[in-house]
Amino acid sequence: MLQCEREAVTHTRSSARNAVVNEEMPLYFKQLLDERCGCASYIVASRATREAAIVDPSLNTEQYDQLLQERHFELRYVIDTHVHADHVSGARKLAAAHGAQLCMHESAQVAFPFLPLHDGEDLELGQLRLHILHTPGHRPELISMLVINPPRSPEPSMVLTADSLLVGDVGRPDFGGGDANRQYESLTRLLRLPDWVGVFPGHFEGPCGKGMCGRPSTTIGFERLYNPLLRLERDAFVSSMSEEVPARPLNMIAIERTNRGDADLSFAMLSDSAEAPSVDLDGRASLEDVLILDVREPSEYALVHIPGAVNLPQAELATRLDEIPRDQPIVLVCQAGSRSQRAAQFLRQIGYRNTVSGRGGMESWEAAGGPVERGSDETAGPRVKETEWAHAGGS
Ligand SMILES: [Fe+2]
Repeated sequence: MLQCEREAVTHTRSSARNAVVNEEMPLYFKQLLDERCGCASYIVASRATREAAIVDPSLNTEQYDQLLQERHFELRYVIDTHVHADHVSGARKLAAAHGAQLCMHESAQVAFPFLPLHDGEDLELGQLRLHILHTPGHRPELISMLVINPPRSPEPSMVLTADSLLVGDVGRPDFGGGDANRQYESLTRLLRLPDWVGVFPGHFEGPCGKGMCGRPSTTIGFERLYNPLLRLERDAFVSSMSEEVPARPLNMIAIERTNRGDADLSFAMLSDSAEAPSVDLDGRASLEDVLILDVREPSEYALVHIPGAVNLPQAELATRLDEIPRDQPIVLVCQAGSRSQRAAQFLRQIGYRNTVSGRGGMESWEAAGGPVERGSDETAGPRVKETEWAHAGGS
């Protein structure tokens, strides 16, 4: 166990002055932000030995190839912190292309071989150590990693937290075997790190959290003080995790099956951010002879929907294409028009050219006095939090 896991370490100016900084053994650290899916990936390398690790790569692996080549780094490890639900991972492709070891936590349920990582283990990267912390909650297999450069300090300067600790938020635990109690325990463990440790999460926006502040990084000290979820006692934390959750990500089922190696449904990723055409839902446009596809969650649909609308949640689109006719005009509807826009982009990308998004969603429809069918509150599940998420999915 690291010293910083036992107790917060305080350094005086004199002890910092006495520390030996070996200028010839710096590290390289780069955060790559994918604006289209709100995801962050990372390259960590030793400048002494040129060995590199890449964490949570996207499917757009050319960006990493180029960087490795430019920097003359040799890729030793590709680490997926967990089975992702919102983007197709590029980890296997990257590891195969570079002869690197593909790493995941030992408990990862996937259909391909990988180097199993264990809690407390160190991956060596030249003089660097990547110290593995098993931090389940968002997913059972999720790991965080401390980045330690011993010639500079025996203590970690950074922690990659994936979808455990996010900036101003925490990763949602409500699907894929997630567990709010385990998330609470993992966060409690991370908060034992010293204040100075920089926090680099797996997302800076998107559907894996519900209140990310938008910054791409933070510190343990700042989050301890100002992350509202970290101030809650266990029971309040657990209930807040289930009170209001964002909708499941677009094409989550297909993306997860792909990332587990059970199928190759990479087409489920949005690759084009061109806006799809939309139609007003203010009662002026005729919806006769069109298929109204309601892409909200079943609990939202059960509460209220347009008569005749068919419910097909955005998370299931790519795996239920056989239910979507190709020869009929389609209007996609969600709560406020954001999910339906992304879903329309996806359907048009794969050839459903006669598909448009319903602008303003059910909010516009109801405000305009459009007819609705309502269910009782008892039939509805947890309230779905509407998040503004206008980007395309990215690669
Ligand atoms: Fe995730």
